[in-house]
Amino acid sequence: MPVVDESGALKRFMRPTAMAGDAYDARHHDYSWQRRNLARLMSNEYPLPPSPAVIAAAVTALSESNLYPHSGEALRDALAEYADADPRSIVLGNGSTELLDVVARIFLGPGDEAIIPVPTYAFYETQTRLQMATPVLVDLSENFELDLGEIRSRVTDKTKMIFLCSPNNPTGNAWSGQQLAELLEPGLPVVVDQAYLECGHAESFAPMVRTHPNLIVMRTMSKGFGLAGLRIGYAVADPFVAATITRMRIPFSVSLVALRAATAALADLPDLAHRRDYVVRERERVHAALAKNPSVRPYASEGNFVLIDISGMGLTAEEVVDRLQEEGLLLRAMKAHRLRGAFVRMTVGTTDENDRFLAALGRLQEPGQTRSRPLEPADAGAGAG
Ligand SMILES: Cc1ncc(COP(=O)(O)O)c(C=O)c1O
Repeated sequence: MPVVDESGALKRFMRPTAMAGDAYDARHHDYSWQRRNLARLMSNEYPLPPSPAVIAAAVTALSESNLYPHSGEALRDALAEYADADPRSIVLGNGSTELLDVVARIFLGPGDEAIIPVPTYAFYETQTRLQMATPVLVDLSENFELDLGEIRSRVTDKTKMIFLCSPNNPTGNAWSGQQLAELLEPGLPVVVDQAYLECGHAESFAPMVRTHPNLIVMRTMSKGFGLAGLRIGYAVADPFVAATITRMRIPFSVSLVALRAATAALADLPDLAHRRDYVVRERERVHAALAKNPSVRPYASEGNFVLIDISGMGLTAEEVVDRLQEEGLLLRAMKAHRLRGAFVRMTVGTTDENDRFLAALGRLQEPGQTRSRPLEPADAGAGAG
């Protein structure tokens, strides 16, 4: 008996949404775990491990792993205080990814439309398609600014949601509260993903949820807090919306280990401040070095990554990614993010990794270094993250 039903015999029993659209492509994660020798400058992870206090809390929780976790009430209260929100507004999730999927399932169905300014994180588009809804992709301006007029002109009676990302992955820039207020004004649900908030100094929109019940803010402890492997994120939403998200999400999706580690991380805000300082300092150092290089154009960023226009190098994005991989550095080309042209996105790594990246990029520009060759059939940079 085949283990996998390759014939698709059960397809006729499946809901059409199970077949709709391409799912989020996460192959790059396996690709990088199989190559731990490569510097991970591709998934916008935090480069340093959690603090000893966070690790100790997680290890202690492991000894109680025979028990189901609780709903994390104390953590939700602490997050509410930290984010300046009503405690009833906080919903925990297995990473913000779980909650982004839940809001797509709550608001979107066949024939509906979701407006998504692009380039951006690919997950909004994949989850929209999986609900058999239509992503209405609205280009950012040439300098990656939001085109509010264009977004509002694309609203129809089928529009059920607007997705925003601030700071935006992969461009790195952030939107203002005033821009957001304009988009909230007609009353449509607006989901703002603020995954990178702790990696820079972008404006937090969580407090605006009190006055705008159609605003849903997504936050995570994966990036600036450096806990991506633990999978803990949260939504900040009007209490009615928050209760609906809670109804629709899987109970116990956040493990006891994640709850305890997150609580310990949140109790040490000076450590978070150091982490933010580190990533901002390294990001600005990389940006300044790249800005001196006439063949590339780095974009200012409030995230833990720098988008780089490499069109002046005479190589394609895939060639640069391949060549850097030969130098031990894993980066991403940006096709899945709907970024046209020759761009790579570099996640800010450790000081040593960043130096290696700058040196390797410099070597690629030495005469005689240009060539064309596919390195791996499964393009390590093709997925989204
Ligand atoms: C914009 C954005 N949102 C969300 C995520 C995923 O966050 P989480 O780890 O909380 O699921 C990512 C990951 O790269 C991201 O870039």
